[in-house]
Amino acid sequence: MRIYEDFNKTSENREPQRAYYIPYDSLEKALEGNREKSAYYKLLNGKWNFAYFKRDIDVPEKITSWDVISVPSCWQALGYENPGYTNVNYPHPVDAPYVPDDNPCGVYSRGFDIDGAWNGRKTYVVFEGVSSCMFLYVNGEYVGFSQGSHLQAEFDITDYVKEGRNEITVKVLKWCVGSYLEDQDFFRYSGIFRDVYLLSREENHIKDVYIKADTKTISVDANDYEIYDNGKKVENLDNPILWNAENPHLYTVVVKGKTEYLPFYVGMREVSVSDKYELLINGVPVILKGVNHHDTHPLNGYCETDEELMNDLLKMKELNINTVRTSHYPPTPEFMNMCDKLGFYVIDETDIETHGYINRRHAVPYGFDVENDIWPCQNKNFKDMFLERMIRMVERDKNHACIITWSTGNESGYGVNQENMIEWARRRDPSRLIHCEDASRKGDIGKVDFFSQMYHSPEKLEEYANDDNLKKMVFLCEFSHAMGNGPGDVHDYIEMFEKYPKLIGGCIWEWTDHVVMENGVQKYGGDFGELTSDGNFCSDGLVFSDRSFKAGSLNAKYSYQYFGTELCDGKIKVKNKHDFTNLNKYKLVAELSVDGEIKASKEFVLDIEPHCTGEIDVPFEIPKECGYGAYINIYLLDENGYETGMCQHKLETSVTEIDAQGKAEDISEDDLRVYVNAGDSRYIFNKHYGAFESIVKDGKEQLSGFARLTVWRAPTDNDRQIKKTWGLIDGDNWAGENMNRMFSKVYSCELSGNKITVKGSLSGVSRLPFMHYTAEYEFYADGKVKTTLNGELRENLGCCLPRIGFEFTSPAVNDTFTYFGMGEGECYADMHYHAKTGMYESDARSQYVNYVYPQEHGNHIGAKLLKMGRGLTFASNGEFEFNVSEYTSEALTEAAHTDELVKNGRTNIRVDYKVTGIGSGSCGPYTAEKYQMNDEKFTFEFYIM
Ligand code: GAL
Ligand code: MG
Repeated sequence: MRIYEDFNKTSENREPQRAYYIPYDSLEKALEGNREKSAYYKLLNGKWNFAYFKRDIDVPEKITSWDVISVPSCWQALGYENPGYTNVNYPHPVDAPYVPDDNPCGVYSRGFDIDGAWNGRKTYVVFEGVSSCMFLYVNGEYVGFSQGSHLQAEFDITDYVKEGRNEITVKVLKWCVGSYLEDQDFFRYSGIFRDVYLLSREENHIKDVYIKADTKTISVDANDYEIYDNGKKVENLDNPILWNAENPHLYTVVVKGKTEYLPFYVGMREVSVSDKYELLINGVPVILKGVNHHDTHPLNGYCETDEELMNDLLKMKELNINTVRTSHYPPTPEFMNMCDKLGFYVIDETDIETHGYINRRHAVPYGFDVENDIWPCQNKNFKDMFLERMIRMVERDKNHACIITWSTGNESGYGVNQENMIEWARRRDPSRLIHCEDASRKGDIGKVDFFSQMYHSPEKLEEYANDDNLKKMVFLCEFSHAMGNGPGDVHDYIEMFEKYPKLIGGCIWEWTDHVVMENGVQKYGGDFGELTSDGNFCSDGLVFSDRSFKAGSLNAKYSYQYFGTELCDGKIKVKNKHDFTNLNKYKLVAELSVDGEIKASKEFVLDIEPHCTGEIDVPFEIPKECGYGAYINIYLLDENGYETGMCQHKLETSVTEIDAQGKAEDISEDDLRVYVNAGDSRYIFNKHYGAFESIVKDGKEQLSGFARLTVWRAPTDNDRQIKKTWGLIDGDNWAGENMNRMFSKVYSCELSGNKITVKGSLSGVSRLPFMHYTAEYEFYADGKVKTTLNGELRENLGCCLPRIGFEFTSPAVNDTFTYFGMGEGECYADMHYHAKTGMYESDARSQYVNYVYPQEHGNHIGAKLLKMGRGLTFASNGEFEFNVSEYTSEALTEAAHTDELVKNGRTNIRVDYKVTGIGSGSCGPYTAEKYQMNDEKFTFEFYIM
């Protein structure tokens, strides 16, 4: 039997897992905590010799030809093999413990020096992450074996090293029995992908250190230690400063050996559950505003440097995120230090996912049929492997304040093997909670602390909240699937979390897009010749892979924000949504915006305790009338002036109605066309197609194609289910309304006086018309055209429309525009909490958003005015939505990668009655009905001028 296919041999000569720490050679250095300065620490990252073999059996006794690569790294990211993405399906047969006969292998080797000062001491080598398993050799001798990709492996190499030059060799295999427990939804990479370092330790050194801190004491299971606060020794802890995510105060505990100093950063805090099933931190109910974090880099695969991880966390802070679920494996241990320091609540999840078992047979419906011995969660052979992965996580990470709960893994079914893990963790660490989503899925939550679900709708949550038999905190370990344009629904969830104590929050799926960047193009699953793949389902991040923000990120930020305001009776009510921070740490700025111009602005510092409400008088004279609209904008700024929150309120100010002057008189027609001259405008209307074919303003042609009534939008990732009802997709000509193969039929087109009336319908090929309409165009002497669309959807249509409105194809030069509406970023019926109504300028190119998979983007809601640079203007007494793009919906629909996108050399302007919202239907519930274009009968009125 091969050791890497042996259920019972997950390691050889690996040290028992201990808490993570770095030993220092002086107290000063320990307090400073910069591990590079420790004389007992030697990082082995950097250049290594490397040899890749397609099959491990090809590795020769002596390797003579080496490449040089940099470690940590993933060999697929370096071009040794193609990367491969698969979500649920295993990338190999389901035949545990066996892995493919052709098992790719990477051999790593490098020299290192052992200083004389390390003589007479013990030497260890630590690997923070190696996928999937490793054989370690030092100076040609076999030392040991380990598996568990995202867990720490430490080996005692004292007996193998000598003073001076030494050689370390690591043989890494792509697959091992552990791979059956690592079926997470990500690109599958191999190699030494996290830090490798040597430690020098004194003889009989301290092994493990367990620090238990609560709100009163810090207890350390070591004989000799000191507690420091900000570099100063603490004599007593009578009035401790407690840790929480908003004020993450840390003490430093230094444990002393004979020659070494081990620093730990300790937060004093307590996690508990109230009798209302609230999550309490230090007795205070908190809402978890979370995100799931995978380690992923567009060029380097699993490798994120500490700086990059820190950047992730800082960006999360910018988005008001307070919780991280380390999906679905423990991160590098330094990540926990960062979370302690910056202030995050962490769900530390161990390296287990066996999702692929649901697909081990074909033609069986999706389901966790765990009532058999096949599933690893039930299978005795896997028992120790499960438990070991829990132990290795808990023992490594147990000293971190940020970790509020241990998690048994993800999508692995629930069985006796998790029960074992849970029982062990309860005994070992009674101070923390235990999370296991699989237990909730099975309906067996007796042993866990959360009723944890994924992707349930806000309505479903409300049911749970009101279900008195459900006696657990309700937590969404995943919600608001952030794929592509989106997520659009975060706000609706937050409202639920804020309303019901038992709904303690959740984690958006997920932090960033997984892509492989090639020549500036974001590649995804299926681009690499994988045997099985799930396409772009890996690109579902709240932020782009370069960590820049999209509308969905900002919408989440303002939904997660820590204050809320209400405007009533001349007062602004301000709610402080912090759990621990008085609002007086922030500056509140109120401004009066009239027709998009800031007329006045006032600053406040409000003394409002956490969870409490205060009030100020509206500090402005409200204008009686204005052109487009008057608003109060309120911002919450932190001490650096960073805008952490924003609210906008519309004022009851009367708005100028559009005034169309006199009926147009210069109107003529022939068989095919109507010709209108009015003011500075000339219109040609095609009666056969019921549409404008020319609009000339000030002598300049505004159109370069017919103005058409259309409904299509390039499906977003979140439209992935509904698009099958909208269009003829993937050749399925039975499923949908075929709106992407649309016919526009004009039954009649009559001119009477200054008014053209068009009666018509829109239908998909092979289907009944999905909409009948009457459109009226009334021409005025000043050149304005009042357009009125009366539409009626087919009864029982059974789906909403992607959108409904007019598309004006205009010459490319007509690409700049000014608008009064919601901006500045794109926004939709549901996804708009980052946007505010104002007067903005932009151009077609800047409206483009580089989603991994090209799709609908660039919409603006709540518009009253859209004025194109070339003169064509759209305005309404009501509101409309619009979109200006270099791309047509068809081009965006066609392209599967950004480099396949083709511009049509025009400016494509959409003036819409309604565009269906965004939601998060790529995995979650589809966009709520209230945000869909599903009005059975509607009237849309706007002016062209
Ligand atoms: C969840 C799973 C995640 C991810 C997500 C879809 O079911 O836990 O790992 O696959 O779906 O993006
Ligand atoms: Mg999965």
